[in-house]
Amino acid sequence: MDEENLKSFEAGPFLYTPEAIADIISPIIKDKIVCDVGCRAGIFMKHLSKYAKEVIGIEQEVNAVMKGRERGYNIIHGKVGVDNIPDADIYYVWVNPPNLVLVIEALPNKPIIIGNYHKYPKIQKYLKEKEAITLYIPSFGFIKNECGQLNTFGISFLWPK
Ligand SMILES: C[S@@+](CC[C@H](N)C(=O)[O-])C[C@H]1O[C@@H](n2cnc3c(N)ncnc32)[C@H](O)[C@@H]1O
Repeated sequence: MDEENLKSFEAGPFLYTPEAIADIISPIIKDKIVCDVGCRAGIFMKHLSKYAKEVIGIEQEVNAVMKGRERGYNIIHGKVGVDNIPDADIYYVWVNPPNLVLVIEALPNKPIIIGNYHKYPKIQKYLKEKEAITLYIPSFGFIKNECGQLNTFGISFLWPK
């Protein structure tokens, strides 16, 4: 991959879950095998690795996969919903809103922690029906995502019944 392409997959605050979220979920992921679903180039995997026994990623974009592997992360190139999903104890998912529900539905019946897009009513309705528990963590300042400026980061917990 050329240098320019590599740069496009460098860490950007709008593309990765904030590090503090790994600290907040640390008691849950401690000593577990965690899969970052749609892991991009692995920045959040780094934060999860502080606590988890093992972190595996799956990502559909090949350039992001290559960059993440260069960084030393265990990333499978694949599309959730089409390809096999790595086996893990817990899944972490923060993917683009149009894919989020499809991706969650494709995962095994195991604990799932979801980066919540709280401005998307369809996602909220889905999570409510599934009886997910959501925690809102304010004061993330100017983190951007597809919704625009994010002052609050939400995480939802979806556990098998
Ligand atoms: C917003 S980034 C999140 C990166 C990281 N998971 C985090 O939370 O910091 C979302 C990533 O999910 C990937 N993605 C979306 N749908 C996917 C799917 N069905 N299978 C694999 N990767 C997917 C996108 O290519 C993108 O790189």
